[in-house]
Amino acid sequence: MTAPGPGAHLLVSGGAGFIGSCFVRDVMGRRDGTRITVLDKLTYAGNRVNLGEVEADPEMAARFAFVQGDIADPSAVAPLAAAADAIVNFAAESHVDRSILEPAAFLRTGVDGVHVLLEALRAETERAGRGERSLAPRLLQVSTDEVYGSVDEGRSVEADPLAPRSPYAAAKAAGELLVRAYRVTYGLDAVTTRGSNTYGPYHHPEKLIPLFVTNALDDLPLPLYGDGLQRRDWLHVSDHAGAIAHVLAHGVAGEVYNVPGSAELTNREVVERLLALLGKPWSLVRTVADRPGHDRRYAMDGAHLGALGWVNRVGFDEGLASTVTWYREHESWWRAARRGDWDAYYARQYAERLATSSAADANP
Ligand code: NAD
Ligand code: TYD
Repeated sequence: MTAPGPGAHLLVSGGAGFIGSCFVRDVMGRRDGTRITVLDKLTYAGNRVNLGEVEADPEMAARFAFVQGDIADPSAVAPLAAAADAIVNFAAESHVDRSILEPAAFLRTGVDGVHVLLEALRAETERAGRGERSLAPRLLQVSTDEVYGSVDEGRSVEADPLAPRSPYAAAKAAGELLVRAYRVTYGLDAVTTRGSNTYGPYHHPEKLIPLFVTNALDDLPLPLYGDGLQRRDWLHVSDHAGAIAHVLAHGVAGEVYNVPGSAELTNREVVERLLALLGKPWSLVRTVADRPGHDRRYAMDGAHLGALGWVNRVGFDEGLASTVTWYREHESWWRAARRGDWDAYYARQYAERLATSSAADANP
């Protein structure tokens, strides 16, 4: 089993979403002969426009294919896995608040879907064992720091126990544990990354940073949960995608790698920086009812990934400024993402909260 390098054929599931599409754009942009097939269900969060840059470029388009389908569907996955040197799995329902409202889809993709990918990987590994293909494919499972649960102090290391506290995080932990079990039991070539809170272009406007940027551009209220002193470690999407490509190429089979961010900040500190970049007043910020089971802090130690030779490149101030500029310049993209079920979701998530909100104290 060898980690795939330039010229490999990658199956990228969930490649039309925020981080997956960045991975696809960046890997294809290297122009090193790598071929990519994206398998994506195109849920409300998936958008083929995110891959437009690749599909519009003749050299990249010749190395690219898009298949609309579900990772939980074995008949969609099996033929694609048979043609792949590696599978990079980004596919997931990814929003904690939606997982609190309706957990079922999180389990279907995060548990059943990962199981289907692992069964395909197992079949391909057996084929390699019989000499029916030259090498078994590698799976990289994209996971999250949220599997550690809330971390009051210190930094999570990969050997820490998993203690998820939301249906989203539990589904991600379950997916990871399946990957681990299949690695141990069947000797599959699998690696896992646990990424930190990610931000950047093409981020769906349901998440904190793009929600607050797009609401502020329209002078709409910014719903800050609870006291706003929860802490997250922010990772630019190009660093997250780059770290995943690095682990795919250099990671040791069976290992898990934390992918920390570059700036641990409270949500209030993030909002202050956003408002300064946008030239909007703090009076837009409303204190609203907290998220149930809200994790207070995530923070990871990155030494294991560092030892593999990875260093983040994008500082938070620079990354946030360019992200705000991107949203200013891509209004049609984010307005389109705020159609479909957006109004119904927004009303369910925020109507009661905003009706009972109060002005957020600028200096709590
Ligand atoms: P996203 O919601 O923007 O994208 C998810 C993509 O997966 C979408 O294109 C969607 O259509 C697709 N998808 C969903 N269910 C599918 C299914 N059953 N079959 C095929 N495709 C399906 O999410 P994201 O923010 O890009 O996150 C990507 C991955 O990274 C997820 O696994 C997430 O758990 C993980 N992660 C995200 C963050 C973050 O801050 N965004 C941090 C750490 C880890
Ligand atoms: P989010 O972007 O949903 O990421 P995660 O829950 O995976 O960390 O939220 C980031 C932080 O922002 C989290 O502490 C919840 C908070 N938040 C708000 O205060 N208001 C909001 O409307 C949203 C979406 C998030």
